[in-house]
Amino acid sequence: MAAALKDMASNIAEKLPGHATSGAPPQLPSEEAVKELQEKYKKAGQEQVFTFYDKLDTAGKASLYKQLSAFDPDHINKLTKKVLDPPKTDEPTAESTKDTTAKDASSNIEPLPASALSSVLDSKEEDLKGWYESGLELIAENKVGVILMAGGQGTRLGSSAPKGCYDIGLPSKKSLFQLQAERIWKLQQLAQKKSGKGVPVIPWYVMTSGPTRGPTEAFFAENKYFGLEKENVFIFEQGVLPCISNDGKILLESKERVAVAPDGNGGLYTALINSGAVEDMTKRGVKHIHAYCVDNCLVKVADPTFIGFAASKDADIATKSVRKRSPKEAVGIICQRNGRPDVVEYSEIDDATAEAKDPKQPDLLKYRTANIVNHYYSCRFLESIPEWSHRLPHHVARKKIPSVNIETGDVVKPEKPNGIKLEQFVFDCFPFITMDKFASMEIRREDEFSPLKNARGTGEDDPDTSKKDIMDQGRRWIEAAGGVVEDEGDKSGVEVSPKFSYGGEGLELMKGKTIKAPAVIEKE
Ligand code: UTP
Repeated sequence: MAAALKDMASNIAEKLPGHATSGAPPQLPSEEAVKELQEKYKKAGQEQVFTFYDKLDTAGKASLYKQLSAFDPDHINKLTKKVLDPPKTDEPTAESTKDTTAKDASSNIEPLPASALSSVLDSKEEDLKGWYESGLELIAENKVGVILMAGGQGTRLGSSAPKGCYDIGLPSKKSLFQLQAERIWKLQQLAQKKSGKGVPVIPWYVMTSGPTRGPTEAFFAENKYFGLEKENVFIFEQGVLPCISNDGKILLESKERVAVAPDGNGGLYTALINSGAVEDMTKRGVKHIHAYCVDNCLVKVADPTFIGFAASKDADIATKSVRKRSPKEAVGIICQRNGRPDVVEYSEIDDATAEAKDPKQPDLLKYRTANIVNHYYSCRFLESIPEWSHRLPHHVARKKIPSVNIETGDVVKPEKPNGIKLEQFVFDCFPFITMDKFASMEIRREDEFSPLKNARGTGEDDPDTSKKDIMDQGRRWIEAAGGVVEDEGDKSGVEVSPKFSYGGEGLELMKGKTIKAPAVIEKE
């Protein structure tokens, strides 16, 4: 299986435009080779990318040639045409279902069937305990791995470093990466304690992109992998695609560089194969994967309850969801569409559908399973990526893209969106599986979901809300253990280190104690 995967990986890598390559500095190509490439771009109507080539120095020529050789301009044109002018078909396919109007989308969706759903809000205590115990056993048997999606550019947050390096202002000053690493470390200890055998390994597959790879690698090295073993942290890079002007032309970021952007979090799948990450999972005997976004400070990395739940259903994909707050909340909904699992965007459904009540529980919305991009995958499903990754559609993100004016050679920083980035979405493969291989678990938002999206001061999903959600959770844990937390003015809450407690367990010694906020509980 491993050798077959490697072959498929190199096949795909050859076909994939713009998959990042690294290594020695680019060599100056022969005149003939340049002519040939120039001709290819000219035929595709994209010759503007060579406008400044003749005036570049040797290094500039070599690097532009290398970058342009990695893309197929015809393929880029095809993708651009498809997203800007999508074909209308009668047959619903994974791609065409995304092009439906709100009315169409509302008429062919249904909530997930009860057989695929569970909720920690109303599951039986014995079920939750059973899933937790079996998930922890799988960890103890080295069968669980974790994928982190950290290739985004975090433009709304506006930090120059990758989002995972961000200090949300906790008393400990821990970064998001550190919080997540310590949760992995703690789970390894909990699983060891349960099994009585050696400390197991939860390998951590960290997806970065061109802009985030270097600084992410440096941050992990500087921080000694936050106490994890370096060989169990697999940092890899997703592909990029050129940015395109509103009239379909490939944009230059400078005279010697094409403007590129990561190919969206759906770029995960081909990157997992091309980087050898799936091969590594197979080699290690990993069977169950938890995948999540870097920006969620509350994420229960490798959550045993979720792993145990998904494994008990023999699922290929499972998702966590939170309850949608109101019909107008701008979140995607996990549902079934044409009988297959899918995510419907909030903009795709009409008001009546968004406002509909659940006939069995009329105080709840019918469509309430909000998507938080927190997934389980079976390893066998990830091994099948080469069979379906080419079917993942691309989506348009309209952006302000600084680019070179071809007439003057000046770099222009636009005031309004001047072009598009092409992105794949990580959930677009859901319809590729049947409903019996899909499961979803509703979780409490306050316990597990607080994304960092916006700059400080925005008041929503910003560093202050992230910090508050961690401090409030610590308080709830202490109070549940029988302790008291005393606030003083705006000093409130408790930061409980993940190394001390993964999910509120092990806090018995707080019983009867009073803690003055803001406090950090790091060690016993
Ligand atoms: P977002 O869509 O919120 O993007 O990513 P972002 O980069 O964090 O922020 P903005 O939109 O630029 O402000 C959700 C998750 O998907 C990852 C992000 O790192 C984050 O964990 N992601 C996004 C990737 O890994 N690759 C991508 O190309 C895009």
